[in-house]
Amino acid sequence: MPKSNQDLQARRDTAFARGLGNQLPVYIDRARNAEMWDVEGRRFIDFGSGIAVLNTGHLHPKVQAAVARQLDRFSHTCLMVTPYESAVELAEKLNKLAPGPTPKKAIFVTTGAEAVENTIKIARAHTGRSGVIAFGGGFHGRTFMAMALTGKVAPYKAGFGPFPGDVFHAPFPIAYHGVSVKDSLDAIEHIFKYDIEPAKVAAIIVEPVMGEGGFYIAPPEFLQALRKLCDQHGIVLVIDEIQTGFARTGKLFAVEYAGIEPDLMTMAKSLAGGFPLAAVVGKANIMDAPGPGGLGGTYAGSPIACAAALAVLDVIENEKLCDRALQIGQLMATTLGDAAKTLPSIGEVRNLGAMVAMELVKNCDPHAPDPDLTKALVKQAASKGLVILSCGLYGNVIRFLVPLTASDEIIREGLGIVVASLRELTAGSTQAVVNG
Ligand SMILES: Cc1ncc(COP(=O)(O)O)c(C=O)c1O
Repeated sequence: MPKSNQDLQARRDTAFARGLGNQLPVYIDRARNAEMWDVEGRRFIDFGSGIAVLNTGHLHPKVQAAVARQLDRFSHTCLMVTPYESAVELAEKLNKLAPGPTPKKAIFVTTGAEAVENTIKIARAHTGRSGVIAFGGGFHGRTFMAMALTGKVAPYKAGFGPFPGDVFHAPFPIAYHGVSVKDSLDAIEHIFKYDIEPAKVAAIIVEPVMGEGGFYIAPPEFLQALRKLCDQHGIVLVIDEIQTGFARTGKLFAVEYAGIEPDLMTMAKSLAGGFPLAAVVGKANIMDAPGPGGLGGTYAGSPIACAAALAVLDVIENEKLCDRALQIGQLMATTLGDAAKTLPSIGEVRNLGAMVAMELVKNCDPHAPDPDLTKALVKQAASKGLVILSCGLYGNVIRFLVPLTASDEIIREGLGIVVASLRELTAGSTQAVVNG
């Protein structure tokens, strides 16, 4: 009997704990590049890339072939027991690609949160200090230290404390919400005055574009100021590139826009095109601080994921996906910006390359978020065959993470659905058009 989404959803609700979120009751049967088909045969355009994992699209033929070749050889030995060349080659490549002239070393783990955890372990081992500064609205994962660093209580932290100590949050600079770079830097100085002296701070961790928090772009001068502050106080600067990495923003890493060299970087998601792999890459002398056996994991650097990641790096280079991200970003920002002229619920459209966001507000007021409209838009778009994701501290931002291998035609089709859905949902709204 053919499967239905409804039947599978009923089984899902019984089988899974409710804490495991679920955006759409759509069960995928197969997917290719920027399209997915559900068990009922319905086609969906994928503007979410499985939350930023598929910069190279679903099952890129080169990634698929690399994985198939690896599966013919072996699937697991454990990198910590009997290693293999692909992992070494991948580490060498990432060390070269990470920005800045200082020699680098890498470790592999399995998830983004694990990479984040390990940056703090390494920074603490290197500095002999305990404190960590992160930013309000930032997201770093669901494990304990990653949760502590995450700057959003509901749903990520509520009910799960106590968290590891010595973690402090400063506001992230968001011009649209009236928080300047100076405000953020002043807040860090306040942490040094009120909470912990800089000589006890091991690390500052920051996303170059806040992902889950709402796609707010860190101004280059902010990241440059953090670099200076860390140099001044001997603090390890950790740049979390888990969502921004691998050509998404028009550079291989978003931090390149600021022209600074991170001490440590986290990488995951699009690194391996859909296979679980994460990495910490950083300055060799810092990376070498923990002793042998202090870092690692059973599945860390799985040979299948390493084969996929090597293919992903080739695809990014050969298909010039950084350039393509810039083109996609321009196409999307222009189309959505035009729509904003007649749709007052669009408060702001912003992008860094193909990391594109649309913030939905009431009465053109940046301080009046519209999470209900945002949720309704996600559903309405899905009913027309488009998968989009929401994000934001107030749940009022649509984030677009189109595969960088998608054609203009499919991107235009998806954008048409976004704009038509928003028009339907806001038809008859009495809001004044003042943002044209
Ligand atoms: C910036 C950032 N850091 C960390 C994470 C956690 O990654 P994972 O879900 O693989 O643990 C995410 C996931 O969305 C992320 O966007």
